[in-house]
Amino acid sequence: MIDRTYLSLAAQNAMQSGVRRMFELAKNYDDSINLTLGEPGFVTPEHIINAGIEGLRQGKTKYTPNAGISELRKAIAYKLEKENGIICDPEKNLIVTAGATQGLMLAIATLVDKDDEVIIQGPNWPDYKGQIDTVGAKTVYAKVSEENGFKMTADIIEPLITEKTKLIIINSPSNPTGGVLEEEDLREIAALVKKHKIFIISDEPYEKLVYDGFVQKSLAAIDEGLEEYVITINSLSKTYAMTGFRVGYICANERIMREMIKLQEFFIASVPEPMQMAAVEALYHADEDVAEMVKYYDRNRHLIVDGLNEINGFSCLYPKGAFYVFPNITGFGMSSVEAAEYILEKTHVVTAPGNAFGPDGEGFIRICYASRYEQIAEALERMKKAFGTK
Ligand SMILES: Cc1ncc(COP(=O)(O)O)c(C=O)c1O
Repeated sequence: MIDRTYLSLAAQNAMQSGVRRMFELAKNYDDSINLTLGEPGFVTPEHIINAGIEGLRQGKTKYTPNAGISELRKAIAYKLEKENGIICDPEKNLIVTAGATQGLMLAIATLVDKDDEVIIQGPNWPDYKGQIDTVGAKTVYAKVSEENGFKMTADIIEPLITEKTKLIIINSPSNPTGGVLEEEDLREIAALVKKHKIFIISDEPYEKLVYDGFVQKSLAAIDEGLEEYVITINSLSKTYAMTGFRVGYICANERIMREMIKLQEFFIASVPEPMQMAAVEALYHADEDVAEMVKYYDRNRHLIVDGLNEINGFSCLYPKGAFYVFPNITGFGMSSVEAAEYILEKTHVVTAPGNAFGPDGEGFIRICYASRYEQIAEALERMKKAFGTK
């Protein structure tokens, strides 16, 4: 008799997140300071929470259209035009997703077949690889380096393009490095995409978390004729401290969007309506909240970068975006896992080993600085005491 009780290869091959592993280890210490998970330290602004509660009170407890409620799609179209210069039709080019995570899975399922190749940055947000594996495609890493600010530029991508390349994913500002692609970098990527006629996802959840006056441009609006190839994915999670609301969206041309809306039925059918209503409130009325949070993160950014650079073993670039630093830890003379575990043991500060972000993350650790300023200050004090200063 054949054993039919084996689990799918996608499930068996899925790796446990190296970030969550550290999270588990941290439970051994009562006084640990956890700087691993990429989550804003703020509670969602109250008026956004109230909009969600109001939705529940109004009895908005049913399915919505697969593409999301039209009020939210209109708010997204308004935002994309005003802030990103992307002109889209809310009825034809947009879908609401359960965060960018589900948006990415939906886009990959729509664009990529088994054995296709997908180019992503190395080091990368680990979910990209997991999602690419889920459809049986192959991940190709475009290795970025500290020397050029961790930028995944066209000249790194182009040599990796083969007959099998179906999709490129860019992410600026980047998780885990905090690196950003500037307008000129995006122009070169746009030219590459047109030359090779390849789909490209621009994953933009950190677009507003930028510093030193930097403005993040959207690839879709960088040049004419890109709607054929560019799929823009975004999320309210990081910008508005709404990770638990699970609201994101995709903007793509009508041909792609038609298929995505069909597939969405099989994934989640729709995002809960009260959460969509909260997202409408955030998109129209939360600019001041965002400005305040970004100011707070920026203060944390200075504290952590300057602090780490004083401590033996670390060397850290100033990231221009997101809320992560990706310091080089080769000064410890250990692998990234050993260094993260050593730091935890000596200081009870929880960080994520670089290799949790793919093979190209070796030699680094990731620290999220979106938590409270006092916590980061305390973490730095403990590390200074344990490892000494330069
Ligand atoms: C680069 C990147 N893309 C997408 C996401 C997904 O976020 P969410 O699903 O909460 O929108 C994350 C979350 O950490 C991320 O870092």
